Amino acid sequence: MQEAVFDRIARFYDYEQGSFTKDIPLYTGYAKKCKGEVLELGCGTGRILIPIAKENIRVTGLDISNEMLKLAREKVDKLDSELKIHVQLIQGDMAKFSMNKKFPFIFIAFRSFQSLMTKKEQGDCLECVYRHLKDNGIFILDLFAPRHDLLAQVNRSVYLGEFYDRENDVYITRRAEDEYNLASQTLKEDRFYEWTDKQGMFHQQRWSFELSYLFRYEAEMLLEKHGLLIEHVFGDFDKSPYNYYSGEQIFVARKV
Ligand SMILES: C[S@@+](CC[C@H](N)C(=O)[O-])C[C@H]1O[C@@H](n2cnc3c(N)ncnc32)[C@H](O)[C@@H]1O
Repeated sequence: MQEAVFDRIARFYDYEQGSFTKDIPLYTGYAKKCKGEVLELGCGTGRILIPIAKENIRVTGLDISNEMLKLAREKVDKLDSELKIHVQLIQGDMAKFSMNKKFPFIFIAFRSFQSLMTKKEQGDCLECVYRHLKDNGIFILDLFAPRHDLLAQVNRSVYLGEFYDRENDVYITRRAEDEYNLASQTLKEDRFYEWTDKQGMFHQQRWSFELSYLFRYEAEMLLEKHGLLIEHVFGDFDKSPYNYYSGEQIFVARKV
């Protein structure tokens, strides 16, 4: 099987992002309100899926990366047996999946949708979402909000801070070289993980990936084209409205 982009850094993922929790209440809140089984596309290591399962809600997670799913499975295995049976993890592509059930709530968190690089893949994904949503079901999509001043720099070097690698008892620093392609609306990032081990040896791991970016009305039109009617556009996980400097664009749409 072909290696997925996130396979290469799966082991770092929870050290890097595990402390980011402020989006979780939004998803658990909708999961409770929608009553029924939830589907997360691009569920990764289960950062959000596990808290949903802990609310005693049935949840299915789909991800293309086996390494990310392996970590999610380890967490599922640690759940109490009555919660564990409510979680299903599936390896698959969010742009072409088919299950013989429908969900009242589907979401794609933390920019996972932006790994889909073409309009075709994005459209195919939303078609799959539509087919798997129950009538009146809710779909949430979180994208980063592109800013013209950052895009205009075209090339940027960014220091991303450090995190603690518990497994090896070292601090790992992260920096990135970003390149925006304004015509294709894509971002290519070379991310460098660097650390010095206990023997004083320097290590560097390079991770390259690409993301697409969408502006607010493009995303709204794309969703509405696929039968997903916008109910809210939030700029933060506390449900404050979107504004240009929000950082996030969180679309809450309903299947009509
Ligand atoms: C930024 S991580 C987010 C993981 C998790 N949702 C979270 O919030 O921590 C993006 C995830 O999307 C997955 N992904 C990327 N492209 C995908 C695709 N075409 N189909 C399914 N999953 C995909 C990656 O493997 C990765 O686990």
